Amino acid sequence: MIKFPENFLWGAATSAPQSEGYSQSYGKSPSTWDKWFEMQPDKFNGDQGPDTASDTYRLYREDIENMQKIGLNSFRTSIAWTRLMPDGEHVNQVAVDFYRDYFKRLREANITPIINLFHFDMPWWLMEKGGWETRESVDAYAFYAKTAFELFGDLIDRWTTFNEPIVHIECGYLTGYHYPDIVDFTKAVQVGYHTLMAHTAAVAEFRKVKPDGQIGIILNITPAYAKSAAPEDLIAKQNADLLLAKSFLDPTVLGTIPPALIDLLAKHDLLPVTKKHDQQLIADNCVDFIGVNYYQPLRVQAPENPHFPAQTTDDLYANYIWPERKINPYRGWEIYPEALYDVAMMMKNDYRNIPWYVSENGMGVADEDRFMNEDGQIQDDYRIEFMQEHLLQLHRAIEAGSSCFGYHTWTFNDCWSWLNGYRNRYGFFRVDLEHAARRTMKKSGLWYRELSQNNGF
Ligand code: NOJ
Repeated sequence: MIKFPENFLWGAATSAPQSEGYSQSYGKSPSTWDKWFEMQPDKFNGDQGPDTASDTYRLYREDIENMQKIGLNSFRTSIAWTRLMPDGEHVNQVAVDFYRDYFKRLREANITPIINLFHFDMPWWLMEKGGWETRESVDAYAFYAKTAFELFGDLIDRWTTFNEPIVHIECGYLTGYHYPDIVDFTKAVQVGYHTLMAHTAAVAEFRKVKPDGQIGIILNITPAYAKSAAPEDLIAKQNADLLLAKSFLDPTVLGTIPPALIDLLAKHDLLPVTKKHDQQLIADNCVDFIGVNYYQPLRVQAPENPHFPAQTTDDLYANYIWPERKINPYRGWEIYPEALYDVAMMMKNDYRNIPWYVSENGMGVADEDRFMNEDGQIQDDYRIEFMQEHLLQLHRAIEAGSSCFGYHTWTFNDCWSWLNGYRNRYGFFRVDLEHAARRTMKKSGLWYRELSQNNGF
């Protein structure tokens, strides 16, 4: 039997824009996702926009009962900036009442809430002014964060500032999967820098408002695996690690931007505009913990036709398909649990053994209803196997001294996902969109309850 440390968090994660629904009701103003869906609905799979989320705004009480049924002792969601502060200045009391009741009930059910402040949902009013491209966004975000800490600090002890900041940078400014859907490396770097400074400013506010609490950031990290030991492939690996992992890990955990990243950006004339005291602010505001979202490894090789100055990340490294890979046949992503061990050891060895947790890990499946039995239950043995394989690697790393304090799967209910809508299902509960978002537990929910009760498997 594999046993995890005492008080280990067994949880699940979601986000406000992917679960709440009512994306422009009850005083909420639009985010970029709401507007983008209005402008280009055909970009969204199945014509499903953020309003098609799993209806948590209405059903959160039932959801909390369901969380208890599958043994969760912890749960992560986010606050929607545009619900809490629709114009960025004034607080929407209806939203305060909603979130306070939601968080209170979670605590009463002995489910520790971990609350995130930004999950790709940039307010439209701020996007119209340039979003993260402008320094103004740093102050706007810091004000929102401070307001949230003041309003909910008595109910929430563990906070995170951003979910996967690399994703809104990369997808919004390099690969066209998020608004504003442009390709511009200079802007991407500036957006990244302002996101980092917004995070830093929020941590500084947090220390004033809630000195007894803990604050972290959620990063999607995996060490890049090079195709070969050839120097060009190793440089590609180094570039990928610098841009995708160290760019946020080093400043948030160690308080410094890696000199090698500054050199790389300088070499390609991509350095962002900064302010005089930024470096000191970064050094003074390190996080208490890290959340790691891990799904699949990153395999890289030297790009065939590097283009300088770099236009996209493809100029600095190219993706590589490992021939021996095991793949998730229902989504196409590589399954490589060993990377979770490597990340855990990286936290221990390179990042001062900071306390960290798996903030997302899970298996997406398209057309999942094909696995439904006569009783209407999804038999998702593949998901149980996926979690077991990852937990084995996690356990191995904990035994080797990595300070991991919990495991959260993505996700609790099947949820809406960006341009993919409801294509890939990840939840412990199936959500039936035809029938008022009715929830039905999958087989993995029962397995998770046992896992949590036994604190192992
Ligand atoms: C990571 C993101 O945080 C979440 O929003 C997304 O839906 C999942 N990965 C699944 O792709």
